[in-house]
Amino acid sequence: MNSAANEKTGISRRDFLGLASLGTAILSGLAVIAGIFRMSKPNVRYEESTRFKIGKPENFPVGTVKKLDDRGVFIFSTDDGLHAISSVCTHLGCIVALTETGFQCPCHGSKYNGNGKVIGGPAPRNLAWLEISRHVDGSLVVDTAKEIPAGTKFKLAV
Ligand code: FES
Repeated sequence: MNSAANEKTGISRRDFLGLASLGTAILSGLAVIAGIFRMSKPNVRYEESTRFKIGKPENFPVGTVKKLDDRGVFIFSTDDGLHAISSVCTHLGCIVALTETGFQCPCHGSKYNGNGKVIGGPAPRNLAWLEISRHVDGSLVVDTAKEIPAGTKFKLAV
């Protein structure tokens, strides 16, 4: 009976088990090799730094406002110095627009006055004032992770 079955399929049970073992060994070896390659890459997510250069002070003449959309910040230059206000709405993170009286969020209508204080809409907090410092190469640096009290100005050395 066994030889009749062999003639039907053309492969013996012993050969089948040998091939299955070989296939399993090859698949296991490939999984080990894939694991080795995967382990060689660190499982780290690189995030953008919260500190970034915004250029030299002369790029911010008194009386100007620059909106850095990609960084989510406005840079104001006044007689008193420079200040940076976050352009990220404190409601759900949309980028606010500058208006004649302050800022307005296009998403759900939050309104802020010129100092970033909430004056309407669902925003739970004021817009953040962000620290400005100077890099050793003379350029200005904003750190979006460092909030400072509203009204704090960065004075340019005379
Ligand atoms: S995200 Fe700005 S009001 Fe909702």
